[in-house]
Amino acid sequence: MKEPLRITVTGAAGQIGYAMLFRIASGEMLGVDQPVILQLLEIPPAMNALEGVVMELQDCAFPLLRGVVSTSRPEEAFSGAEFVLLVGARPRGPGMERKDLLEANGAIFTGQGRAINDYASKNVKVLVVGNPANTNCLIAVNNAKDLRPEQFSSMTILDHNRAIALLAERTGVHITEVQDLAVWGNHSATMFPELLSATIGGTPALELVDFEWYRDKFIPTVQQRGAEIIRARGSSSAASAANAAIQHMRLWSLGTNAVTSMGTVSRGDYDITEGIVYSYPVTCSAGKIEIVKRRTLDEFCIDRLRLTENELLEERDAIKHLL
Ligand code: NAD
Ligand code: LMR
Repeated sequence: MKEPLRITVTGAAGQIGYAMLFRIASGEMLGVDQPVILQLLEIPPAMNALEGVVMELQDCAFPLLRGVVSTSRPEEAFSGAEFVLLVGARPRGPGMERKDLLEANGAIFTGQGRAINDYASKNVKVLVVGNPANTNCLIAVNNAKDLRPEQFSSMTILDHNRAIALLAERTGVHITEVQDLAVWGNHSATMFPELLSATIGGTPALELVDFEWYRDKFIPTVQQRGAEIIRARGSSSAASAANAAIQHMRLWSLGTNAVTSMGTVSRGDYDITEGIVYSYPVTCSAGKIEIVKRRTLDEFCIDRLRLTENELLEERDAIKHLL
């Protein structure tokens, strides 16, 4: 049996935490031969609720779960962690954009970035889920001075999955037929779900759907899906977000040749400003996120890439005191 790996989840008593922890403990994230120790961080008012979650974890008698730490002290929660899922943050309500959360949530990621830097494994992989995820990730990475930028990523696989599901439904195929789709930029209403390189059963997607549907229905529906769920449920996506976070960490650590979408610190690929956290088409191998190079982009795509980049630059300006 392998040595257990320490996995930190912040906001562990929240909605996403509740939908995520049991699946991690059952082996869905790192594999059914990988024991884990869960290190759960919450704010003091949520510690009682967290104790209830811990009791439920114990009551599952998961063979892979070798320990649970529940704490409100970041240094304890991040100690020795190989994987960190930064979920703990306020969700938006109806009528809000995710960037409206910057003021409430941004500061969380300064202290947590520093604590990860000081207490986590030097090889830690950090996924930011709490919104606005790209810019919170930017804050965390800038406060973890001894770690490498590529150790941090923000979540857009949920948007990627939404785009696949919508395209498969439209064209009447199984989701596994949809390949090479990508979501670019910010996890926000400017994100760009791109179909120029996507295929359906090997045929270019844009030969099977008309451009007007792509531009006027597909893109806005993916961009607004989070808000649509908030309107319907009264609170934001939780199970699908937890699913995406588990998938993100699994692909990042175990690898994938299939193109997916992840936020990563830009090194200037596709002329995107260096240093911002931007979602790109990626594959993963040997524990690394690799941006897909030389993807074909037309003028329509480039305009969209710029629009979402500009929003990220505005967000960066708004929180520059936290970097
Ligand atoms: P929630 O309110 O149910 O849970 C959030 C939890 O975080 C709460 O239990 C709260 O006590 C805790 N928390 C707050 N500040 C904390 C801190 N400093 N340290 C540790 N814990 C802290 O919210 P949720 O539905 O679980 O959503 C969590 C975040 O994830 C929100 O910001 C939401 O917008 C975001 N989200 C992102 C995506 C994505 O695709 N990136 C998808 C869904 C939700
Ligand atoms: C989502 O996309 O479902 C999340 O980012 C939650 C939200 O605020 O929309």
